[in-house]
Amino acid sequence: MSDVDAIVTSAIEEFGRIADADELERVKARFLGKSGSLTALLKALGKLAPDERRDAGARINAAKDRIEAALGERRDALAAAALDARLAEEALDVTLPGRGAGLGGIHPVIRTWQRIESIFHSIGFDIADGPEIETDWYNFTALNNPLNHPARSMQDTFYVEGSDQGGLPLLLRTHTSPMQVRYACQHRPPIKVIAPGRTYRVDSDATHSPMFHQVEGLWIDENVSFADLKGVYTDFLRKFFETDELQVRFRPSYFPFTEPSAEIDMMFASGPQKGRWLEISGAGQVHPSVVRNFGLDPERYIGFAFGSGLERLSMLRYGIDDLRLFFDGDLRFLQQFR
Ligand code: DAH
Repeated sequence: MSDVDAIVTSAIEEFGRIADADELERVKARFLGKSGSLTALLKALGKLAPDERRDAGARINAAKDRIEAALGERRDALAAAALDARLAEEALDVTLPGRGAGLGGIHPVIRTWQRIESIFHSIGFDIADGPEIETDWYNFTALNNPLNHPARSMQDTFYVEGSDQGGLPLLLRTHTSPMQVRYACQHRPPIKVIAPGRTYRVDSDATHSPMFHQVEGLWIDENVSFADLKGVYTDFLRKFFETDELQVRFRPSYFPFTEPSAEIDMMFASGPQKGRWLEISGAGQVHPSVVRNFGLDPERYIGFAFGSGLERLSMLRYGIDDLRLFFDGDLRFLQQFR
């Protein structure tokens, strides 16, 4: 029965050539399957004489064992090779240099915010914070700007779902001035505070953004005068721009919450902006009706307030000519302030 040995040899050879596990199972059937060559020999045993049959049966079974052993070895080898390939593919080269975390930095408007806080803190001002979603009362009416007052058209805003106790819709604050009222209702004079924060208006072009930042200032006591406003604000600008050379002027203006009201202009003595008056802030002596809304007697308490734009101050300090640069998120711009 040399054909038994031939079958074993050819099975071992074929298994050795196969590199794919599924293919191996298909080829196995050609030898051990129902119509495989070894199975055919087993079926043929019945035609042999009894003593020949025993001998041949034993040899065929031994051949079957050898083929199965070869098959098992090849299966293991293919599985090991597949695992090696996967490990190699998923390998992590720990010797490669890291990608490096970029260094973050403080946004120029927030730098301005922080500088303002430290300057005013150094001359005894408290720093307050408040909600960006405001009621109509705090944003307008308490500031002497009631419903249907024409001055409301100076500040169109966004309304949000929900309403206050009087049924008026909630809104995104158009200025930081509501913080004057919130703070003054909770503190007794002397009241000396700044309140920086985000503000919103329906406005969008090269010099206006629907979201921007302001800082509110308020000083109320028994004898705080317009002269104090001039002194404090001029001193602030000189510290902020790090020069004593700049000039400041107060130009008459109108705000419902101050009387008299002024726009504060400044002029640099050198640099690219030299010699031009630049509008920098609204300000004024707090209106008696507003002092009354603080819960204070306007016959006794008096003082000043101002509201300045942080983008405006940042643009002048860093020489930025387009407001939108602050909000585009362009790293080439932002990295200059690291
Ligand atoms: N709230 C004003 C605005 O956004 C700015 C302002 C003007 C604030 C005069 C004040 C002030 O506190 O006294 O246009």
